[in-house]
Amino acid sequence: MTKTLFYIVNGPNLNLLGQREPEIYGHETLAEIEQSCRDWAKKRDIALTTHQTNSEGTLVDHIQAAAKDADALIINPGAYTHTSIALHDALAACKPPKIELHLSNPHAREPFRHRSFASSVVNGVICGFGAHGYILALEAAYGLTHGLTSDLTLGRKS
Ligand code: DQA
Repeated sequence: MTKTLFYIVNGPNLNLLGQREPEIYGHETLAEIEQSCRDWAKKRDIALTTHQTNSEGTLVDHIQAAAKDADALIINPGAYTHTSIALHDALAACKPPKIELHLSNPHAREPFRHRSFASSVVNGVICGFGAHGYILALEAAYGLTHGLTSDLTLGRKS
């Protein structure tokens, strides 16, 4: 039997975690975060693929790959969250459960961060819990793929 596969996709500037505004995003590097995600996945026998890109088109490519291969997608689209219709459309076309994730809480920050082009086309959003948000997102993805959490998007109108 093939293992359940989760994709974690990180967008622009998240390769700078650890050095980038640590008072907002924390001190953990992306490599450290991805390692804790791999440790989490190993314990639950989940296969994990991780990607980071600074480019919008490549972010779309990763979402399309997740749509084809993954059982669930966890995505931190970085600043493209607030600007990208291409991100919105790629997520809308991606059938597996999707979780939008942010280390910070964009709603408690500048007004331009309050709008998300992702939120209306994902199952749920986790934000404001720093690096631990990735583990919370993995738990959510696990719940959705193992029938422990209801898929409430089924009744959504658009
Ligand atoms: C972010 C929040 C975005 O507003 C910002 O542009 C990022 C990181 C977060 O993880 O808190 O790059 O997605």
